[in-house]
Amino acid sequence: MRLTVNGKDIDIEADPDMPLLWALRDLANIKGPKFGCGIAACGACTVLVDGTPIRSCSLPVGAVEGEITTIEGLAADGKLHPVQQAWLEDQVAQCGYCQAGQIMSAVALLDEIDNPTDADIDNAMGGNLCRCGTYPRIRAAIKKAAALKLARA
Ligand code: FES
Ligand code: FES
Repeated sequence: MRLTVNGKDIDIEADPDMPLLWALRDLANIKGPKFGCGIAACGACTVLVDGTPIRSCSLPVGAVEGEITTIEGLAADGKLHPVQQAWLEDQVAQCGYCQAGQIMSAVALLDEIDNPTDADIDNAMGGNLCRCGTYPRIRAAIKKAAALKLARA
């Protein structure tokens, strides 16, 4: 089957029931999305499908309809995405394991809402768990990313 990932078509041979996360990591060698829980409960595996954040551990690859974006596809024209830039400036990551998923959810949030409130952030990010407790830095970085994004627009 053919997947479109980060703007490129990728042909894979996979059982349609294989979780998208397995297909990305093991067949397409795209390692940004992480395996955490495998039951759509932690967000570590979050990718975007046509801009919508989904848990790739729980979506069969045969059911994917649309273009997939992973963290590897966020930077463009030699520039980090504003969310990546803010994450770096604020040194959000601790162990880092959850952070690709956090960033993908934050990207989707800012595509929906230019200037999210704390409640918007809690609502959008509630499904992304961080065992290291980086939540305060995540919230601050999303606000910084919103400002960076507006400044670039
Ligand atoms: S690994 Fe997919 S939500 Fe936890
Ligand atoms: S930074 Fe360690 S789990 Fe989030």
